[in-house]
Order: sequence, then structure tokens, then C-alpha cells
Amino acid sequence: THLCRQCASAALNDVRQYLADGGQVAVFDATNTTRERRETITVFAEQNGFKVFFVESVCEDPEVIAENIVIMDVGRRYLVNQVQDHIQSRIVYYLMNIHITPRSIYLCRHGESDLNVKGCIGGDSGLSPRGKEFAKYLRQFIQSQEISDLKVWTSQMKRTIQTAEAVSVPYEQWKALNEIDAGVCEEMMYEEIQQHYPLEFAMRDQDKYRYRYPKGESYEDLVQRLEPVIMELERQENVLVICHQAVMRCLLAYFLDKTAEELPYLKCPLHTVLKLTPVAYGCKVESIYLNVDAVNTHRERPEVGIHTYIHTYIHTYIHTYIHTCMHTLI
Ligand code: F6P
Repeated sequence: THLCRQCASAALNDVRQYLADGGQVAVFDATNTTRERRETITVFAEQNGFKVFFVESVCEDPEVIAENIVIMDVGRRYLVNQVQDHIQSRIVYYLMNIHITPRSIYLCRHGESDLNVKGCIGGDSGLSPRGKEFAKYLRQFIQSQEISDLKVWTSQMKRTIQTAEAVSVPYEQWKALNEIDAGVCEEMMYEEIQQHYPLEFAMRDQDKYRYRYPKGESYEDLVQRLEPVIMELERQENVLVICHQAVMRCLLAYFLDKTAEELPYLKCPLHTVLKLTPVAYGCKVESIYLNVDAVNTHRERPEVGIHTYIHTYIHTYIHTYIHTCMHTLI
């Protein structure tokens, strides 16, 4: 027990360090079942000016105990005391939504679209002939998986709806699953954006996660918009989500715990299904390419640094300046 107490106190020190270094929520995972242990934690929190929130799982079902499951009779009942603020109420809400029933989440994009073929982003085009071919293979693949009670979700865009139609299973449309809104750059090719909006284009390369298209969205916006979808995914069992490149990156980043830095560059090619199966502390990922050619829509993170950005900035600035001078002269 002496050793146990030492470990607990070392872990509490880590908590203090983490919160002092700007951390917002620390999870202290331990068997704090005695009054004495809880008192120690409460005093520790008081001394450091931290708020403390105990989350406990009680399990009395012998079968469940046998399976070593840790939530009070697996979500049959919740007991919540003294929820003091927004974050704590969000934690409770989250815990009430998650479950540990084995299941898989299938993520894929719509079949190749006409605008994909043209190399344009955004828009609301239908499937190309190869896109339709993919949709047929997707149907076969889903059948071969013999999934019980599969839910299928799409966005409200033609290309995902057409894909789901070909799979011929009932599906549900989510507006929140629509592709990132590229604002003034919708339906343009990357080269055209670079030509017409050089500064915008360079800014996106500088910080792709936070960059927001004029009159459009950023990846950061998208993550917020997807929160209800993610919460519902946590509630459900087997689900196939037919979505879009940027949307799929956000969902994947959530399940694979990727950083905001990595997220906008995750590889989510067309005609490829990612099968995610939760395992202890993470997700198993299987990538299944359905063998129908498609264009590559992935644009790599360019090897350019701040210099190119500054260069573009100055260039654009001088350009605008000369332009204004000429107008004044005329
Ligand atoms: O090109 C297909 C597409 O889904 C576009 O509609 C969207 O703007 C783009 O991918 C998102 O990818 P990225 O953020 O890499 O431009």
C-alpha cells in the first residue's frame, strides 16, 4: 500500500504539472474508492485551486463483471451528482452516449464525380461513369460483409446520395456531412485559385486547419459542424458513412486521434472504404480499395516555407498598389 500511495501521489503531481502548464482537463485514473483517497484528492484540488469531478462506474451484474466491463450495468442507469459547469455536463453527456458493444464504422467518399474528373473542388455534380461503377462494387462489398442492422448515412449532396442509391439500402441524409464550403473558390481548380487568389492560396498552405475560405469554411469549422454526427456515431452500432474528402478526414482524425496539424492531409482516396473497429484504447483500421480507377484529389502539403508566403504577399501588395496608382492617374 505504501507503494500504491507513492504512485498515486506521483500521478497527482503529474496532474498538477499538466494543469499548471496550461492543460484544461486532467483525467486521474485510479481506484479512488475509499473516503480517505477521495479526501486526499479533494484537499489536493482545493490547495491548487482545481475543480474536481469524480466519475465512477459501478457494476453489479455478475455476467458483466465477468466480462470486465466498467460502466454501471453497461449504460442501464446513470447516477450524476454535483455537475458544476459546462465541461462537466459535456463529459456526462459524452459518457451517456458511448458504448462498448463490438461494431464497425465504415467510412468512404462518394464515387468519383464529374467535377472530380475536371479537377474542380466543391460544387454539387453527379457521379462519373467510374463513380457509378464504384457504387455497384460498394453494394457488393457491403453485402459480402454480412453486417447486422447496418445504418447508412450520406450528406445532402448529389454525389453521396447517388452512391447510396446504388447500394440500395435505406439511408439517412445529414446536412452536417456536406463537404467543406470553399466559398468564393467553389468549382475552381487549385491552379485557378492560385491564379485568382494567390494570397488566399498561400495562406491555406500556411495553416490549412484554421484557414477559412472567403464566404466559406475552414477545417476547424467543419470539426464543429460534425460534432453531432460524431456523437450519434458513438451511440450507434454498425454504420456506413458515405461522405467527402474533407469530412472523412475529420471523422478519421477523431477516431484515430490525429492532431489538427495532420488532419487536413490525411489520405482519404476515392473508391476506398476504411473499416474502423474499436479495440482497447483505439481503433483497428482496414483499408479496402474496391478496384475501380479514380482521379487523385489529394494535394500534398507543399514544401514551401514562410518565404514563399511573404513573397506572394509582397507581390500581391505591389500589384494592388500599382493597380490603384494607375487608376488614380487615369
Ligand atoms: O476535391 C474534392 C473535395 O472534396 C472538394 O470538394 C474539397 O474542397 C476538397 O476535396 C477538400 O480537400 P482539400 O482540403 O485538400 O482541398
